Amino acid sequence: MFGLLVLLFFLFLLFVAAPQIRKMLAFEMCTSTVQLPGKVAIVTGADVGIGKETAKELARRGARVYLACRNVQKGELAAREIQAVTGNQQVLVRKLDLADTKCIRAFAKDFLAEEEHLHILINNAGVMMCPYSKTADGFEMHIGVNHLGHFLLTHLLLEKLKDSAPSRVINLSSLGHHLGRIHFHNLQGEKFYHSGLAYCHSKLANILFTRELAKRLQGSGVTTYSVHPGTVSSELFRHSSVMKCMCWLFSYFLKTPQQGAQTSLYCALTEGLEVLNGSHFSECKVTWVSAQARNETIARRLWDVSCDLLGLPVDQ
Ligand SMILES: *[C@@H]1O[C@H](CO)[C@@H](O)[C@H](O)[C@H]1NC(C)=O
Ligand SMILES: *[C@@H]1O[C@H](CO)[C@@H](O)[C@H](O)[C@H]1NC(C)=O
Ligand SMILES: *[C@@H]1O[C@H](CO)[C@@H](O)[C@H](O)[C@H]1NC(C)=O
Repeated sequence: MFGLLVLLFFLFLLFVAAPQIRKMLAFEMCTSTVQLPGKVAIVTGADVGIGKETAKELARRGARVYLACRNVQKGELAAREIQAVTGNQQVLVRKLDLADTKCIRAFAKDFLAEEEHLHILINNAGVMMCPYSKTADGFEMHIGVNHLGHFLLTHLLLEKLKDSAPSRVINLSSLGHHLGRIHFHNLQGEKFYHSGLAYCHSKLANILFTRELAKRLQGSGVTTYSVHPGTVSSELFRHSSVMKCMCWLFSYFLKTPQQGAQTSLYCALTEGLEVLNGSHFSECKVTWVSAQARNETIARRLWDVSCDLLGLPVDQ
C-alpha cells in the first residue's frame, strides 16, 4: 500500500509537477525580427553550446559571422553545420586562444586587416571550475580567459567597433557573480584558490567591465551589455564531475544551448536597446546585479590593473 503511494507520488511529480515547474521557469525567447545583411559579427567560443547557437542565429539573419575558437577543427565542424542549416556560406573560423595574449593579438591583427567593419562582438567563451592552472602569460585561468583575454580582445577591436557604429559588445557573465569578489591582492589566486569562486570572481569582473566600458564609450555609438544566459547544460561543466552529475539529474529543468543563447541575441538584436547600455540582462530583461558589481571604484581600479597586466596604456 505504502509502496503504491510512493509510486503514485513519483508519477505525480514526473507528469504533473515537473512540466508546471518548467513552465514557471519560463525561458524567454528573443523575438526581435531584425535582419543582419552586410553586418559582421564575432562570437568567441562558437564551436559548441551557447556560442554555436548564437552564431547560428546571427548567420540565419544574414550576418557574416566569425567563429573564434581555440579548437579550429571543432570550429570547422560547427561552421559546416551552421552553413548547412542556415544556407549562409559566410561563416568563417579563426583560431583564438584566450589563454594566450599572443594568439589574441594575432587574431585581432588578422581580423583588422581582413574586415572593414565589426558590428557585433559577443564575448562568449569561458572556462569554469578548472583546477588551478595558468595561462600562457601566467594569469590564473579564470581571470585570465574570462576576463583579461576578452578585455584585451575588446580593446584591440574597439576602434573598428567605433568606426562601425552603431555597434554592440555583449559579455556573457553569470548569476554566479553574486558570490564574486575582486581581491586585488590575490587576483591570480596565488594566496588562496577555490575553482568555483574563481569562476564567480571572473564573472563579476565581466560585469564591472561592461559598466566601465559603457561609461567610457558614451557618445561613441558603441554600446555594451552583460548577460546571464541561465543555467545551461553545456561543456562549461567539463571540469567538475559534481556539476556534471547535477546537470544530469536536473537536465529536464536546464536550458538547451539554444534557449541559453536567447538573451545574448536579445542584446545583440533588439532595436532601441542603446539607452540600457552597461546593464546586465537575464531572460531578455534588465536584471539586478550585486553591490560589488555596481561599485564604480572597484570597476575603475580593475580597469587600470587589467591594462597594467596586459601592457596596455592606462587611458583616462
Ligand atoms: C567584456 O568583458 C571583458 C572581460 O571582463 C572586458 O575586457 C570587456 O571590456 C567587456 N566588454 C564589454 C563590452 O563589457
Ligand atoms: C550609455 O549609458 C549611459 C549610462 O550608463 C548613458 O548616459 C549613455 O547615454 C548611454 N549611451 C548611449 C549611446 O545610449
Ligand atoms: C566600493 O568598494 C570600496 C572598496 O571595497 C568600498 O570602500 C566602498 O565603500 C564601495 N563603495 C560603494 C558605493 O559601495
